[in-house]
Amino acid sequence: MREKTGERARGQPSRGGESERRAVTRESMKILIIHGPNLNMLGKRQKELYGSKTLAEIDSLLERRAQELGVEILTFQSNSEGALIDFIQARSSEAAGIVINAGALTHYGFSLRDALYDAVLPIIEVHLSNIYAREEWRQKSVIAPIARGQISGLGWRGYVAALEMLAAEGAEG
Ligand code: DQA
Repeated sequence: MREKTGERARGQPSRGGESERRAVTRESMKILIIHGPNLNMLGKRQKELYGSKTLAEIDSLLERRAQELGVEILTFQSNSEGALIDFIQARSSEAAGIVINAGALTHYGFSLRDALYDAVLPIIEVHLSNIYAREEWRQKSVIAPIARGQISGLGWRGYVAALEMLAAEGAEG
């Protein structure tokens, strides 16, 4: 497993020249992939909305894409807001960005939102379904105002697009 310096993980410039900076970024950039409540049920749960892939299948597609992009991913799922916060607090200092589908916590998870804010990392919010085409309560996200961007309604490909975006931005430095 490749490791990266905390300094680079926080998005600080490397002390080296351009070539060194590029090498460090490409070889060791780590992105957190976080899945919230009920996403462990993908593949069984409302397939017409969320698709037929399981979470393990989505994570393995992301792993494959991450290898192609030359970045490292760390994936985590929990049904508990506290466990998601513990993971963010423990891992954000070594990461360069976060891709998160917070499930229903998206709409009211203020503690999770605060933990994401405190991580001081670029965040891409992902939803498999188009939350704006659903119930009114799903159309509000407490995470969106602190996110770099949001992808909603593109199914599992939304996660891949988010990963590609963070990897591309990180590579630019
Ligand atoms: C979801 C949308 C949420 O409203 C819902 O609670 C989920 C999944 C999505 O991926 O479309 O659990 O985040």
